[in-house]
Amino acid sequence: MKINGICAIVTGGVSGIGKALVERLLSKGAKFVALIDINKHLGEETVKDFKEKFGSEKVRFIHCDVTSESQLEKAFEESFSVNSRLDVVVNSAGLLKGPKVIQVNLEALIRSSYLAKKYMSKQNGGSGGLLINVSSIAGFIASFDPIYAASKHGVKGFSLALTVFCQECDPAFTQDDIRVGVICPTALDTPLYDIDPSWKAKLSTLNLVPMSLVVDAFVLVIEDDSKHGCCVRITEAYGVDLLPMKTANEWITELKIFKS
Ligand SMILES: NC(=O)c1ccc[n+]([C@@H]2O[C@H](COP(=O)([O-])OP(=O)(O)OC[C@H]3O[C@@H](n4cnc5c(N)ncnc54)[C@H](O)[C@@H]3O)[C@@H](O)[C@H]2O)c1
Repeated sequence: MKINGICAIVTGGVSGIGKALVERLLSKGAKFVALIDINKHLGEETVKDFKEKFGSEKVRFIHCDVTSESQLEKAFEESFSVNSRLDVVVNSAGLLKGPKVIQVNLEALIRSSYLAKKYMSKQNGGSGGLLINVSSIAGFIASFDPIYAASKHGVKGFSLALTVFCQECDPAFTQDDIRVGVICPTALDTPLYDIDPSWKAKLSTLNLVPMSLVVDAFVLVIEDDSKHGCCVRITEAYGVDLLPMKTANEWITELKIFKS
């Protein structure tokens, strides 16, 4: 998919990774990006800057707590209504700590993924599109904060399972309808860590990945139509790479899940 001309939603789009991605999308000619976020002050400030830089019709801030089903539905409705079209949905809203980690990082992302399908799927009158969910290296390594790790393992498992045909589940997200990608960076210094001074301090001991590399990973998934059901790992040591993962069907065969 070419970025030029697309209409997109980015949750968590007013800060950190989401904001950097929005800026890249707009600079590569996206037609419209909706920034869905709970941070009203930052949202208004960010959108003002983007409007000045890229044009007022290109971007809109929609104040929304993604954990509220009705607010999220309304935010999708409003985003879609601007051009009667949606091509890309990125779920980047996230929290590191606190009682709402699972709700924000996982439950809201699940709801948002199905809303993406509602608006983009050819089965529902859309033109197909792309769903990108933000996990983390914490979605692979059982480390960091346990609840955060659980949420990010959940994001990866959910997103990849969406692409697998399963008679008992909803129809899968398919390559010719809605592609799915999962972005898994190691740490980078963003406001995510502001909540916890001890984590903030720990950042200086880590090999941080540059923001530009993380945004490159999104661009790779958007522009390469062969990328579907894949996890993109971003590390300082190895750059952007696809993790050597087996497909669900390969695992099912290797582990002899079904009786032959
Ligand atoms: N920074 C890292 O080291 C890192 C590494 C791997 C993955 N991630 C993931 O990347 C994503 C973006 O994180 P970031 O580093 O850009 O952090 P960030 O704090 O800069 O951005 C997160 C955004 O999510 C928004 N948000 C939080 N709760 C919300 C809610 N209930 N409703 C709507 N918006 C809400 C925040 O307001 C913020 O704008 C997160 O999912 C995070 O887990 C971050």
